[in-house]
Amino acid sequence: MKTFSNNPGKSPHQMVEELREVVGVFNADPQKFIEKCLFIKTKDQRTVPLKLNTAQSMIFEKIRQLRSQNKPIRMIILKARQEGVSTLCEGLIFERTSRFKNSNSLIVAHEPESTDAIFAMSKLFYDMLPSWAKPKRRYDNKKQMVFENPDEKTRTKKPGLRSRIVISTADKTKIGRGLTIHNFHGSEVAFWKNAKALMLSVMQSIPNLPNTSVFLESTANGFGGDGEYFYQIVQDALAGKNEFELIFLPWHLMTEYSQPFASDAERKKLVETLDEYEKDLRAKEHLTYEQLNWRRWAIRNLCGGDLDKFKQEYPATIEESFVASSKAVIPKQYIEAQSKFVRQPIRKLDDILIYEEPNLRHFYSLGADPSEGIGQDDSAITVIDKMTGREVGSYIGQIQPDLFAKKIRQSAELFNDALAVIEINNHGLAVINALKGEYTNIYQRTVFDKANNTKRKELGWKTTQTTKPLMVDDFIAGLRDEDIGLSSQTTVSQMMTFVHTSESNRYGMGAETGQKDDCLISAMLAWQGLKELPSEMPNQRKGRSIKLY
Ligand SMILES: Nc1ncnc2c1ncn2[C@@H]1O[C@H](COP(=O)(O)OP(=O)(O)OP(=O)(O)O)[C@@H](O)[C@H]1O
Ligand SMILES: [Mg+2]
Repeated sequence: MKTFSNNPGKSPHQMVEELREVVGVFNADPQKFIEKCLFIKTKDQRTVPLKLNTAQSMIFEKIRQLRSQNKPIRMIILKARQEGVSTLCEGLIFERTSRFKNSNSLIVAHEPESTDAIFAMSKLFYDMLPSWAKPKRRYDNKKQMVFENPDEKTRTKKPGLRSRIVISTADKTKIGRGLTIHNFHGSEVAFWKNAKALMLSVMQSIPNLPNTSVFLESTANGFGGDGEYFYQIVQDALAGKNEFELIFLPWHLMTEYSQPFASDAERKKLVETLDEYEKDLRAKEHLTYEQLNWRRWAIRNLCGGDLDKFKQEYPATIEESFVASSKAVIPKQYIEAQSKFVRQPIRKLDDILIYEEPNLRHFYSLGADPSEGIGQDDSAITVIDKMTGREVGSYIGQIQPDLFAKKIRQSAELFNDALAVIEINNHGLAVINALKGEYTNIYQRTVFDKANNTKRKELGWKTTQTTKPLMVDDFIAGLRDEDIGLSSQTTVSQMMTFVHTSESNRYGMGAETGQKDDCLISAMLAWQGLKELPSEMPNQRKGRSIKLY
């Protein structure tokens, strides 16, 4: 490509012509501008032109496609660490803002240090621009870089570009108000405290025009809490429910994430000790042994031996990045192991899902989690077979307490008058009151009367500071030993978002913000009920139901 130099031997006319030609080339292909004119500091402390790496080229290719279709650029980038994504987004924003007039660009990062690092990139871009490409600059401070004539006297006649790059941290909720934004870069969106509200405000400020761009990039941060918004927009992009293109950049895209072997013996050792995951990944992604060698090195040295940490920071698939980064109470390997038990229902009894017909010689326990209030969350039922540990029936729906009582009765009667363990908290009392006249096999808890030092039985399971950890621990033990086999995918998915929480009314554990745990709680209640049931059907009772209370 022809480059421009203001060689003193050239006539002014020649210079103008050459400049026009070069600008034309850059307009037609902004990648050429980025690779020729923008400089970065590399990981090994060199200052070099920003020659796009594989991950960056993939992003650029998508931009090219969208531009050719005259569409606005709306991209979500789910990434592994240190792939050069922030650098590219800054390069793209800088290219748009330092070359075109009246362009407003906003960059938001999740904490002040990353804001500073990102802005430092833009400063280096500016400082290293060839002089003919440098727009006039009026301000350059911690918050913004304004491309405008700094001289007040001549500004009216020769204003300069009147473009600006503004940078902010995500905790400033008023970001974007009062400003029309043409280019937006959100960095590490999954770690923003208020991502949903902030993006709602930002998106109002961006006109729906082809020459505008939005880049939202992040590593994953679980399904809920701060990470919920990012998880949701990734899911919506996958389902085609929003206007964003999703680009996933797994760790193995980076050529530098590969480590040669010190000796043949070392290589042989790796080949002989590959586990199932490594073999699978190698086959699916055509990885070299050197890449797997780097992976093992990085797990040990970059992630302190924590495999989940590696999967979070350096994911190979979209799913594993979210699973690994969630702060689930239940160990992830137990959740993953349950996927082999998940199955489709064989039929429905009204809207109760039946996975297996009742066996007249088996005992069943039914867990019921009534909703906390109509319109808020679901009421859920899980039925588990004592003999096999398999989930045989389930129900989930928004339903009033008296109708939920009917569902419980219907499901329990189908499964040999199952023992119904109903949570008494919230609407549970209303459910039990509606049920108790019609159905008797209801779990009873022991209540101590401190005043009289006596015990008595009361209907229903009460979740308290003491019983919740017990219920959860028992369930985890059942999963660990694979005594439990869940059929419902919803229940398995809810295990991933069941996390430690500090909300006092949830006794230390519950669903992450925006997620649900009702199916899981009903499964845990059913599991508690199993402890009450005899393991064998007494001979004289075979083929009949048994009532415990
Ligand atoms: N094309 C490139 N060639 C060489 N080095 C690059 C390239 N792009 C970025 N780098 C360097 O790689 C490092 C990581 O870049 P950057 O911070 O942009 O990545 P990131 O994916 O945003 O990382 P993080 O996961 O930490 O947010 C920086 O030192 C940057 O200068
Ligand atoms: Mg970054």
